[in-house]
Amino acid sequence: SVQKTYRIASIPGDGIGVEIIKQTIRVLKRLEELLGTFNIEFHNYDWSSERYQNTGEYIPTGGLESLKNHDAILFGAVGSVDVADHISLWGLILPIRKMLGQYVNVRPIRILPGLSSPLKDCSIEDLDWVMIRENSEGEYAGQGGITHEGTEYAIANDVAVFTRQGIERTMRFAFEIALSRPRKHLTMVTKSNAQRHGMVLWDKVFHELAPHYPEVKTDKMLVDAMTVRMVLKPRSLDTIVATNLHGDILSDLAAALAGSIGVAPSSNLNPTRQFPSMFEPIHGSAPDIAGLGVANPVGTFWCAAEMLAWMGETKARSSLMKAIECVCAAGVRTKDIQGTSNTFEVTEAVIRALEKEL
Ligand code: NAI
Ligand code: MG
Repeated sequence: SVQKTYRIASIPGDGIGVEIIKQTIRVLKRLEELLGTFNIEFHNYDWSSERYQNTGEYIPTGGLESLKNHDAILFGAVGSVDVADHISLWGLILPIRKMLGQYVNVRPIRILPGLSSPLKDCSIEDLDWVMIRENSEGEYAGQGGITHEGTEYAIANDVAVFTRQGIERTMRFAFEIALSRPRKHLTMVTKSNAQRHGMVLWDKVFHELAPHYPEVKTDKMLVDAMTVRMVLKPRSLDTIVATNLHGDILSDLAAALAGSIGVAPSSNLNPTRQFPSMFEPIHGSAPDIAGLGVANPVGTFWCAAEMLAWMGETKARSSLMKAIECVCAAGVRTKDIQGTSNTFEVTEAVIRALEKEL
């Protein structure tokens, strides 16, 4: 029979991104062989800060168009001490998210077996969340500018942009996720006491949509109080929806509460499936440990599992997640999660676990 072949664009980027993507491709190749039910074809893109320094651009002409011709994108990290962070972010990740219509960012957060939360008495059952971050507008919409630059009268602004359409499509997605989970509970985060236009529109759309999902229990939080609730009452939360900026900040906190940012995945989804979605660990290029071979690859393995699920390969996803969990539980872990193994050793252990399981 003719097997499905997935075309995956891989963009390792900078720093530890290069190290973890290389290992993730090894894991996916082995998984493909062991299952024998689909093929994966990787196309590597060398879009990095080095390329930017040599050519003046991260993405060459026609690059975004060529990404569209794939089933998914696997991304490492971007960021270099030699390039300002706003140049690298706007040069590489943000254009992909925007031009491919990846309007939601989904971040599952839970404590993997063998890991522990820095919170006192927080068990695996106490912390099991999915955070949905609006991924196309808000403070990251790109509107703004600077006037009288370089003088004492410099004025700079970033305009937060909120559209009814942008809010509604993100919230519908969040309600659907909440509906698919056992607890069916959705918490919406804003700051509608201080920001009285865009955030109030968020509240309004949320209240309009809620009656269409009668099975979903809802509540809303102001973002400052939300940080307290995440720390003191993690069990009271399930699915969370937030704006681009708030979701960015809260998901780093969430990842730290679950053990380490080195294990946390994120999916930049285009729910319409018109263009491919992009899967990337939430951490950055970690210049402090780049090149040492000690980066935790688990966040990117988890991303790969989410990518397989998005393409409909649920068996492959659960096999990979099982292998990751088994390796974490067995104590084969990197330093950031209280282990002594390096990137390669963790990868080998995951491959062995897959071989044993399949
Ligand atoms: P970071 O996530 O790169 O590092 C923060 C700390 O966590 C560092 O001490 C690092 O060693 C550690 N860490 C991160 N990932 C790890 C892993 N997989 N295993 C073990 N330890 C890990 O964040 P930072 O330092 O704020 O940013 C560094 C660069 O990355 C900057 O240029 C920044 O702009 C960029 N960045 C890129 C992102 C992306 O590509 N999506 C996201 C966040 C930052
Ligand atoms: Mg972030």
